[in-house]
Amino acid sequence: MTIKGTEDIKKWVRRTVDSETLAGIDEVVVFPRAKKITVRKNMSENTLKGLESKVSSCRGCGLAETRTNVVFGEGSPRAALMFVGEAPGAEEDKQGRPFVGRAGGLLTKIIESIGLTREDVFIGNILKCRPPGNRNPMPNEIEVCSPYLIDQIRIIKPKVICALGKFAAQRLLNTETPISQLRGKFYDYQGVKLMPTYHPAYLLRNSAGKKDVWEDMKKVAKELGLVIPPRKRTS
Ligand code: URA
Repeated sequence: MTIKGTEDIKKWVRRTVDSETLAGIDEVVVFPRAKKITVRKNMSENTLKGLESKVSSCRGCGLAETRTNVVFGEGSPRAALMFVGEAPGAEEDKQGRPFVGRAGGLLTKIIESIGLTREDVFIGNILKCRPPGNRNPMPNEIEVCSPYLIDQIRIIKPKVICALGKFAAQRLLNTETPISQLRGKFYDYQGVKLMPTYHPAYLLRNSAGKKDVWEDMKKVAKELGLVIPPRKRTS
């Protein structure tokens, strides 16, 4: 792409800064003589650790005022399977780790049901900071924060993303379709298979949804070529 003239350059910079697909760029090198623009990502942001150090000091929205810890996400940087939830809750905010409360306990069981551990996968969220009182994420918070998730996906390059609940599924698929209609089918997210399913917190209130999640996880396991271990007896 060639951009000519100061006005065009200004327009391009404005558009670029607004664009989530180029989020994370912190340096634009302009060579006026050659009328050429080169965009470089900061090398450290091409690693999960580098991105984490950037996110840990984020003050991009009001949640920075009320959070205790940024919850970047955790797991394998080479995970084939990535889970994306909504936002940290009270326990996550306290510990700085994703899905460590009651819903997290259920997510851990879901992961283990397909023969994996939390360390095998990557667990992240749409928002990296807790909304006060666990209210729903606000559109501006999703807008500001989701480029970090997009960068995490770009760096990890999972084979499958499992979107937990409506906020993750609707944001990544850019749709308003209810989660009950989205779940159970694979979608394409920039070349990665994406399976929406119910959020574990929803399952804590509606245990009837568990069998649907189990069906969804079997599809995820098949896609990843996993052999599902025999189910443990609970009594
Ligand atoms: N719910 C989420 O969506 N994410 C967490 O990290 C914890 C609970």
